Amino acid sequence: MAKDIWIGDVQNGDHDGAEVELKGWVKRTRGSNKIRFVVLRDSTGTIQCVAKRDAVGDEQFESIASALIESSVIIKGTVNVDERSDGGHELIVSSIEIIGPVDPERPFPITESAMKAADGGETEFLLDNRHLYLRTSRMTTMLKMRSSVFGAIHSYFRDLDFIEYQAPNFVAGAVEGGSTLFEVPYFGRKAYLTQSWQLYAEAAMPALERLYTIAPSFRAEKSRTRRHLTEFWHAEMEIAWATNEEVMAHGEGVVRHIASTLLSERSTELEALGRDLELIGRYADTPFPRMRYDEAVEILQGKGVDVSWGQDLDYSKEKILTQDFDVPHFLTHYPKIAKPFYHREDPTDDKYVLCHDLLAPEGYGEIIGGGERTWSEEEILARLAEEGTSPEAYQFYIDTRSYGGVPHGGFGLGVDRVCSWLSGADHIREVIPFPRDSRRVTP
Ligand code: 4AD
Ligand code: MG
Repeated sequence: MAKDIWIGDVQNGDHDGAEVELKGWVKRTRGSNKIRFVVLRDSTGTIQCVAKRDAVGDEQFESIASALIESSVIIKGTVNVDERSDGGHELIVSSIEIIGPVDPERPFPITESAMKAADGGETEFLLDNRHLYLRTSRMTTMLKMRSSVFGAIHSYFRDLDFIEYQAPNFVAGAVEGGSTLFEVPYFGRKAYLTQSWQLYAEAAMPALERLYTIAPSFRAEKSRTRRHLTEFWHAEMEIAWATNEEVMAHGEGVVRHIASTLLSERSTELEALGRDLELIGRYADTPFPRMRYDEAVEILQGKGVDVSWGQDLDYSKEKILTQDFDVPHFLTHYPKIAKPFYHREDPTDDKYVLCHDLLAPEGYGEIIGGGERTWSEEEILARLAEEGTSPEAYQFYIDTRSYGGVPHGGFGLGVDRVCSWLSGADHIREVIPFPRDSRRVTP
């Protein structure tokens, strides 16, 4: 049953005149009582198949003539070079077998344009029928881009001898503040879904020194925005003996590596999405500038934005700031009051912490948050007390400081956000197969 040739191979290879067996799904059909043109789709592309009644016989001809879009079929035939058809080849059909028909009792608008039309701008329709929407060329393209982004993150860290390390998803405390914690009943107790791998990675930092992961993180984000999911994919790293500057160099390194990987693996997809390859090339090649938080606030105030020192910068402000950027920018040295307890105070001025956010251009905003960690037990206890957080849930974390603590740091990168920015998607849910937000856990 295994498949031995893909449509992409036929379109790009040298199979002219060859007899092949193609397996896939019907994307479109048209024709007359004597000849049918079937556009066949598989995961690698499409090809037009030409079926003549004379060649395939009445029974097969009727079956393909009545097959609905998305029926699965096996088609045998001869590859023919045809400059006029999409991809440059067509298949002259010798036999057709319908494998999985589409139930005519469940008529459904499953072409891309029909789905978009039926959506009527609602999008809920596309989300409700996600398994079909995934088959459209736009979603297929997004999912291929996504796969390359994941691959690029793994190769960046593995090539530098980082160890992939896993942390629990059920946890006892917050990392990024209590307001976005998901509470789950846990055998008569309360547990939470993790917001970040970080604290458990810090616990393993003295063992592994260079660690990374790509894993889901969970945030009970009540508001629905273009950048927030309740379950998102989080690429995080932690590194011993590193300063904020050194951690930022890895953030810059991984983002540039993602951009260059997309250029080499997915230029066809980038073009199909209307992306400018030169722009993606700039993200791969140009150093990312650094700017202190204070300067960003001044720029915003200069633009008449209502922002005061000490506030974290939300999307509306980042958007304004990044409209003038042509590559991602780091913002560093946020006020201590704007960031969680684990951020290390700046030893030269304790109003600030040694941290960074990386803001993507094109009005996108934050894609990375990270920095140096508070690494002495004394300082951690003081920061928790300042925040009014009880140290109980964090005892394992505090302990790591009293057994040979060292300076260290790390960051988290929102993988879905990076996919969304680099593919030019309007909304983060366009780049994840089954998006989760405050209103949706199905399908
Ligand atoms: O800035 P955040 O909250 O930082 C942390 O979680 C740190 N503990 C990471 C670390 O240092 N190991 O989240 C990191 C990144 C953000 O910059 C953003 O890209 C993404 O995670 N992110 C989200 N992506 C999609 N939906 C959400 N609700 C997200 N919340 C954060
Ligand atoms: Mg952040």
